Amino acid sequence: MNAADLIRRKRDGAALDADAIDWLVRAYTDGDVPDYQMAAFLMAVVWRGMDSAETVALTLAMLRSGAELRVRDRVSPVADKHSTGGVGDKVTLAVAPLVVACGLPVAKMTGRGLGHTGGTVDKLESIAGLRMELAPGEFLRLLERHGLALSAQSRDLAPADGKMYALRDVTATIDSIPLIAASIMSKKLAVGPSHLLLDVKVGSGAFMKTAADAHRLAATMARIGADAGVHTVAALSAMDQPLGRAIGNALEVAEAVDILHGRGPADVTALCLHETAMLLHMAGIVATEQDGHARAKQAIQDGSGLAKLAEVVAAQGGDARQIEDTSRLPHAPHREVITAPQSGYIARMDAERIGMASVRLGAGRLKQGNPIDHAVGLMLLAKMGDRLDAGAPLIEVHARDAAQVASIHDDLLDAYTWSDAPPAPLPLLLGSVSGGG
Ligand code: URA
Repeated sequence: MNAADLIRRKRDGAALDADAIDWLVRAYTDGDVPDYQMAAFLMAVVWRGMDSAETVALTLAMLRSGAELRVRDRVSPVADKHSTGGVGDKVTLAVAPLVVACGLPVAKMTGRGLGHTGGTVDKLESIAGLRMELAPGEFLRLLERHGLALSAQSRDLAPADGKMYALRDVTATIDSIPLIAASIMSKKLAVGPSHLLLDVKVGSGAFMKTAADAHRLAATMARIGADAGVHTVAALSAMDQPLGRAIGNALEVAEAVDILHGRGPADVTALCLHETAMLLHMAGIVATEQDGHARAKQAIQDGSGLAKLAEVVAAQGGDARQIEDTSRLPHAPHREVITAPQSGYIARMDAERIGMASVRLGAGRLKQGNPIDHAVGLMLLAKMGDRLDAGAPLIEVHARDAAQVASIHDDLLDAYTWSDAPPAPLPLLLGSVSGGG
């Protein structure tokens, strides 16, 4: 087989068989197919798509590129949750310790920032000393000892996704249903939980801009999970505006800690409680989602969720004092408030544009391997539906210097649409698709 031929066939709209997909993924993982050929192939998939047999073949090829941990053979039940990516999405940082504090272990292999969206690994690496590159043996030891292990994409598990993810991040080849489904599900199946909750984002800050696409992605992933014997539910949630107020790595860790203290913003706290309740119910820890909700609230009130996060941070070499006192997290040297250019209600926010502004400050990567600036980001001082007078505080930018703020100022303001009347409130939770299993 040869890569140029497979690229050409996909470019021309042909469906590839499992052997061809397997060969390409293996050759890329081994370094025999270079980045430029894989980038061309990925772009052909973005344009031409893949049918469900190809998507399953791609997922399994990426899964087989490395080892399988099958954590459920060691600890059961054991859960995982994964978001398809959003702006200000720090839900995992709060949900994982909350779920564990409620009695359900969580084994989570997680990603770095992708495009305009942040990644849990980059966020957690704001914490001094925290090791996210865990070898499988250590991952399992932490899971058995603490009920929670959080790891970056390991070189041993789904290494094909590790390489393809980094390449997609900088080649505009992220927003494709088969590529997202295979990326997420190959990682999830490599870890092998018993229960998996997928948070499929839809809206201006998500890779899926329409409910129809989000449903297709949800159904594709739920089916792949169920076929592999993992009880999988894909829940759709709104990403019409950034979640919570903080965007940027250390800022989001601090906001996750606020959620665990019970003083987080209402929208992101509601989503955290909902996802915790869903996972507890899926795994049979509670009889109803309502009970799960109450358990999650209790783990916030009694501090056990926060204590679990601090415990795991310390166990992975991080400075837990930064969780106890978030003012110890990295701080940007320059803070500047951008004000409302006019009076009125915030009718719409282009969350992708806002996410990109944060990336341009250094919170994400514009090129493969770019370093992350953990301190920079944005604090949204107003959200959709809020009414502001002209000149009122709108966004606090955490930057290196004033020039950085100036470089994103106009673009940020362009992300807002104003109206004279209050906009209709949009629902945060948009239903779910179950894969059974
Ligand atoms: N999250 C992933 O892990 N992969 C994607 O492709 C998108 C979001």
